[in-house]
Amino acid sequence: MKISILGGAGFLGRKVAAHLALQGRLGDRPISNLTLFDLTAPLKPDAGFPVTTIAGDLVDMPPEAIPPGTDVVFHLAAVVSAQAEADYDLGRRVNLRGTDAVVDACRRLVAAGGRPPRVVFTSSVASFSGGQDALLDDDARQVPANSYGAQKAAAELILADATRRGFLDAVSIRLPTVIVRPGRPNRAASSFFSAIVREPLLGLPADLPVPDAFAAWVCSPRRAVDWLLHAAAMDTAQMGLDRSVNPPGISTTIAHLLQALDAVKPGASKLVRRVADKEIAAIVGLWPPVFDTMRAHTLGFAAHEPVVDVVRAFVEDDREATLIERGLPAPPE
Ligand SMILES: NC(=O)c1ccc[n+]([C@@H]2O[C@H](COP(=O)([O-])OP(=O)(O)OC[C@H]3O[C@@H](n4cnc5c(N)ncnc54)[C@H](O)[C@@H]3O)[C@@H](O)[C@H]2O)c1
Repeated sequence: MKISILGGAGFLGRKVAAHLALQGRLGDRPISNLTLFDLTAPLKPDAGFPVTTIAGDLVDMPPEAIPPGTDVVFHLAAVVSAQAEADYDLGRRVNLRGTDAVVDACRRLVAAGGRPPRVVFTSSVASFSGGQDALLDDDARQVPANSYGAQKAAAELILADATRRGFLDAVSIRLPTVIVRPGRPNRAASSFFSAIVREPLLGLPADLPVPDAFAAWVCSPRRAVDWLLHAAAMDTAQMGLDRSVNPPGISTTIAHLLQALDAVKPGASKLVRRVADKEIAAIVGLWPPVFDTMRAHTLGFAAHEPVVDVVRAFVEDDREATLIERGLPAPPE
């Protein structure tokens, strides 16, 4: 099985690549080749099959990024929320034209006699609005309140239509905010959700721009990777024309998240400083905090673990690597 990861140097791209390298298979099929593509060449994971890394721009993607015979494309490359809001041209270019480029690359494979590759696309909770009181069901309309969300919703439609036309076989997963993100803060408006857990677990302070009662729809990196791999291997015939799914994330308040932090490291939440930020609050305040995800369960997407396990998973999976990456000493236990 030949697999490409676009955005292979990013947070989720690296995790998916590491998982594939470790397992050597996707579903019940062995992996024969993995291609990792990003703006700078991704690091190669240790794998029992050939891994090719390529640097380039998604919009002018070289043909080798999705080579002939590709079975699965993970389309994760994107300009994330706050950055896409701050730089309209860049967000539109990468998130919209980049997705067009993925469609064209798949079309070329099919035109040359190949099979339509499965394309697993990461859409976002940010493609919805409604605010703190919203509870959205599977049929909820996407009414984005920021450019990033609009670009993700548009990309979902383009991919669903390309599926109908037989150019590819898309599954778009509208990911919740993924916490705890390792490494450094990024340009996502939701970056603070990870920071208020990660930084105290590294012994550092973090700013909280919203009230403690603020609720959010989140998921762990472990669950996000599981869902992406399930989307890559599942039978898509059950999806019909609707190629998008709201996966079973978990709704949590900041207060609950900080309790979970203290359960894992007593007193750690004292490092969280309340510093209101109107711009960030304006973006994340419009994202809905609860979804009914019956369709995802029916399609076999795994249910979510409790919030305290999300905090523990950062300690188990990513804290040490983050300390090393940032040149930080281990905090006292
Ligand atoms: N992490 C989250 O909380 C979250 C939530 C919802 C959706 N998503 C979506 O999931 C995907 C992965 O998210 P992530 O957190 O790993 O993001 P990330 O920023 O860590 O990774 C995205 C990668 O895309 C690459 N990229 C950007 N522009 C590019 C271009 N022109 N050409 C090639 N590569 C380019 C970046 O270099 C980066 O490595 C994204 O599509 C994101 O929008 C993430």
